[in-house]
Amino acid sequence: MRKKVTVVGAGNVGANCALRLVEKELADVVLVDVIEGVPQGKGLDLYQSGPVQGYDCTITGSNDYEPTANSDLAILTAGFPRKPGMSRDDLLVANYEVVRTATTQIVKYSPNCILIVVTNPLDAMAQAAYWVSKFSKNRVIGMAGVLDSARFRTFIAAELKVSVENVVGVVMGGHGDTMVPLVRLSNVSGIPLAELMSQATIDAIVDRTRNGGAEIVKYLKTGSAYYAPSAAAVEMAESVLKDKKKVMPCAAYLEGEYGIKGLFVGVPCKLGARGIEQIYQVKLTAEEQAMLNKSAAAVQELVDVLNKKQ
Ligand code: LAC
Repeated sequence: MRKKVTVVGAGNVGANCALRLVEKELADVVLVDVIEGVPQGKGLDLYQSGPVQGYDCTITGSNDYEPTANSDLAILTAGFPRKPGMSRDDLLVANYEVVRTATTQIVKYSPNCILIVVTNPLDAMAQAAYWVSKFSKNRVIGMAGVLDSARFRTFIAAELKVSVENVVGVVMGGHGDTMVPLVRLSNVSGIPLAELMSQATIDAIVDRTRNGGAEIVKYLKTGSAYYAPSAAAVEMAESVLKDKKKVMPCAAYLEGEYGIKGLFVGVPCKLGARGIEQIYQVKLTAEEQAMLNKSAAAVQELVDVLNKKQ
């Protein structure tokens, strides 16, 4: 039987998630948005690309959640995007309401689904979805590390003029300015990064990765990135839907791993049919652990604000 995926939010991230899902023939897609006509129109447009692109998946658009019933997986992208000068954290309160409402509806109609959260500020929104859904921790996954690593890998490959496919780039921590690109664990076909470029170049790439989202917001002015974010979310969805068990950095609910408790933070995870099937605990140096702690503290600050609203 074909899989079914709900994509909440028919904006740029959501619509591109839908497009990538059907182009890979991963699932039938229901696109949901509060704006009347937009999910229906974009859904129909995507559906009509099928004969040209050669996919048989159906895409429907809806303003309510009834058609989403019994989805295997839901990708939550709805929310306000960043404008120039805004940090992801500035979106906290407004997007909390969006995530709360959407999660309630997703859970009502698809109580057994796996939930991938994309809305910013990412780690705090994953935490909100976890609270509201009351799902087990393996079934709520935040998308950030795959995107941040993709940016890191892009810049490394461009600098060295090698295939992006050969570049392993590991980024842990929260999806914010304090994210932790782990240079020591990054490599090109096993060759450590430090043997391939100078420390100054590495530092510049790390810096550009940390500000990768903001760089795009600055260009676009009216919103944030969506091609790479949707590609990242769909890579995660694919690993779940096909039970591929890919290992990638995801925001996961930690219960003592890396010394962090009761918080969503980006760490390497195995994604399969049960969602997060394993969290890997890499031995970090004292300096790396300190960076991760700092990043977790930044996430905790936002979660504390949400805690007061609960
Ligand atoms: C980014 C936003 C979407 O990193 O968080 O591009």
